[in-house]
Amino acid sequence: MLIRSPEQDIQRILFTEEEIAARVAEIGKELSARFAGQKPLMLCVLRGAAFFFTDLCRKMDCMMDMDFISASSYFDGTKSSGTVRLMKDSSIDMTGRHVVIVEDIIDTGLTLSYLKKLFAVREPLSITTVTFLDKQTGEPNRENVDYCGFLIPDEFVVGYGLDYADYYRNLPYIGVLKEECYL
Ligand code: PRP
Repeated sequence: MLIRSPEQDIQRILFTEEEIAARVAEIGKELSARFAGQKPLMLCVLRGAAFFFTDLCRKMDCMMDMDFISASSYFDGTKSSGTVRLMKDSSIDMTGRHVVIVEDIIDTGLTLSYLKKLFAVREPLSITTVTFLDKQTGEPNRENVDYCGFLIPDEFVVGYGLDYADYYRNLPYIGVLKEECYL
């Protein structure tokens, strides 16, 4: 059986590899200035943020701890289930630490707000939120994110870590998925 390439399912490219690299470098610089002389605990929210996280951390020149947590609310579909499930917690003590949560995308805002609440009770010195993409869904009561790569329209995007049913994460750019692929 011949399996089609992920490229064929992309309607249009929103951000190229080059645009992504330039923006990630800018955020890295801002975070380096913000945490100069500190040692933040960088937390990657698997799996979508994996590429953004590793690229971003390499653009930061401060000392840091890196850890990986896993949360999910979408499971297989394009709509949030409304319930966030924490699959893997951090093993690092957050007490008195500057914690930086790194996400790939904010959609309903549920995941980020769940993680912030969860970590706030562990008495960190601060919690900073970073997302590569922020989807303009008009969701009421959504918390603001501290650092954002790009604001995007309310369309289904994949690539650079973002998936549909676990596919397309390996595309090096951000693209809009053709509707017939998920409707
Ligand atoms: C996605 C994404 C964010 C979250 C954003 O995770 O990676 O963590 O959803 O959506 P929200 O703002 O509506 O909560 P997903 O559950 O798809 O898991 P994954 O990262 O493993 O793909």
